[in-house]
Amino acid sequence: MGFKKDFLWGGATAANQCEGGYNEGGRGLANVDVVPIGKDRFPILLGEVKNFDFKEDHFYPAQEGIDMYHRYKEDIALFGEMGFKTYRLSIAWSRIFPKGDESEPNEEGLAFYEDLFKECHKYGIEPLVTITHFDCPMHLIKEYGGWRNRKLVTFYENLCRVLFNRYKGLVTHWLTFNEINMILHAPFMGAGLYFEEGENQEAIKYQAAHHELVASALATKIAHEVDPNNKVGCMLAAGLNYPYTCKPEDYFKSLETDRENYFFIDVQSRGAYPTYALKEMERKGIEIPFIEGDTDLLKEHTVDFISFSYYSSRTVSTDPEVNKQTEGNIFASIENPYLEASEWGWQIDPLGFRSTMNALYDRYQKPLFVVENGLGAIDTPDENGYVSDEYRIDYMRQHIAAMRDAVELDGVDLMGYTSWGCIDLVSAGTGEMKKRYGFIYVDRDNEGNGTLKRSKKKSFDWYKQVIATNGENL
Ligand code: BG6
Repeated sequence: MGFKKDFLWGGATAANQCEGGYNEGGRGLANVDVVPIGKDRFPILLGEVKNFDFKEDHFYPAQEGIDMYHRYKEDIALFGEMGFKTYRLSIAWSRIFPKGDESEPNEEGLAFYEDLFKECHKYGIEPLVTITHFDCPMHLIKEYGGWRNRKLVTFYENLCRVLFNRYKGLVTHWLTFNEINMILHAPFMGAGLYFEEGENQEAIKYQAAHHELVASALATKIAHEVDPNNKVGCMLAAGLNYPYTCKPEDYFKSLETDRENYFFIDVQSRGAYPTYALKEMERKGIEIPFIEGDTDLLKEHTVDFISFSYYSSRTVSTDPEVNKQTEGNIFASIENPYLEASEWGWQIDPLGFRSTMNALYDRYQKPLFVVENGLGAIDTPDENGYVSDEYRIDYMRQHIAAMRDAVELDGVDLMGYTSWGCIDLVSAGTGEMKKRYGFIYVDRDNEGNGTLKRSKKKSFDWYKQVIATNGENL
């Protein structure tokens, strides 16, 4: 009973939030590098800004991240000490193809990840690689308009071929696009999109989504051709939408809101556009830019497993009076009166985690992989850098227990669990450092001050024994 013997325990990060070294090793500029912390951040993430020139008085946290580009050996050693079986990380596209449209890759970038993967294997850690985690070379955005342009499919295909061939034998678990449904909520981050005045933004988002979905199927095809051992997953920002009341209209709205997100996974896992989406697009006059071969490609190259992030459930209502939204969220949600929330207003709902897992497994009947979960909180270290983060342990204990119920009591087939931001890193939503998720504290603040020194938090030893007991001892 309990988790499988070869359950993949570990942690997750993304290149743009931890690597830094944005102009080193031949790396080209990417969308994530031009997003500052502060009030100008959200308009850029939402695709409302067209001028990406750096401003002197702005701080761009992704440019240095937590300097993992130079410190990955030290960080991976700490992951090894915790007993990680897997480490989820992402490739910075512009390290491999600095502009994105070159025919030859940048050897220095390829060598960097090769060395990093070898370092993981020294500790028996299997890399789990996200090919694209909210990053896109700036050149592809300025020159081609990001994922709205079909040419991005070819550039991404080139990237995938290079990665699968170069890292054959070093990497067998791949995710095509992080939180693919983020296109709808933060299109610059999700697909390198920004909009001209008067454009039909929704139509462009779905056009970009089609290109990413085709690219994802193509990646799956190539991954399997290059190495039959490769396993490819999709990745959803998950979290069920509850109806605020049992009013039928509220229920129907929750169903529709869930479908907005499932749409992507329906295509990636079932291999075709779902009828509800086709009908809605027809009603709205949105044309999907299918070209010959797309339908077969989507059908024949579905994903092997379903990965997802889960932080919170969401709540929807049709009543305009019930409109108190939770704060600090890219995903809008009404406050659920039955739930506590984090310091950033993210509602804490471990049972919602179990429900979400059940909904995904019922719908797709493919192995699931939890690739993000955790609590973003303010940590106060003592003079030695030690943080007694009981609140984080408490959050994780409850969520891992709910996950165990989903496996033991509901029979969900689960491959692994990688907690988000296993080492403190830059927040994707707000750009802050003070929103910390890690077992490892990093001495750096929102303005970029600090020594970058790493130190273990209380949760470090706690998670170590969770892994050692395969989730028995929480
Ligand atoms: C997910 C992303 O949306 O949530 C991560 O895949 C992100 O990149 C994580 O960091 C937590 O969000 P935030 O805004 O707290 O960093």
